Amino acid sequence: MKATLIDLPKFEDPRGNLSFVEEENHIPFKIKRTYWIYDVPGGQVRGGHAFKKQEELIIALSGSFDVVIDNGKIKEIFSLNRSYYGLYVPAGLWRQMINFSTNSLALVLSSTEFEGIDYIRDYDDFLNYRTTHEK
Ligand code: TYD
Repeated sequence: MKATLIDLPKFEDPRGNLSFVEEENHIPFKIKRTYWIYDVPGGQVRGGHAFKKQEELIIALSGSFDVVIDNGKIKEIFSLNRSYYGLYVPAGLWRQMINFSTNSLALVLSSTEFEGIDYIRDYDDFLNYRTTHEK
């Protein structure tokens, strides 16, 4: 499967805008966990791993950053800079988060609870995993 940008509802209002996300309605999974990445010093890179099971939606709630998605053959870069859309990342893709702006805030909705064994942290292991689990 491919990573795709998902537009979320947006209620524009002179008092301030409002967006939301509902599990299984706007995203194709049930939300088991939410985490966020913040106070990222300039030039730092987060991620750099793949998940065997975990699916996720990544939203730039504030500021901007790029998500690099790699299926073992092709890399795609998604720039996230608005809080009314997110990047859906299915399982089995290598992903890195780069180019964080000052004060950026990345919200991640995850389909699983935290499980260290779901991570593939070695890139060669990831390439081997892809050849045996090609989707
Ligand atoms: P990790 O996912 O490895 O972040 P990154 O790939 O961006 O470096 O998480 C960093 C640490 O935080 C790691 O030791 C595991 C821990 N962690 C949790 O305990 N629960 C969580 O939900 C997440 C996302 C991470």
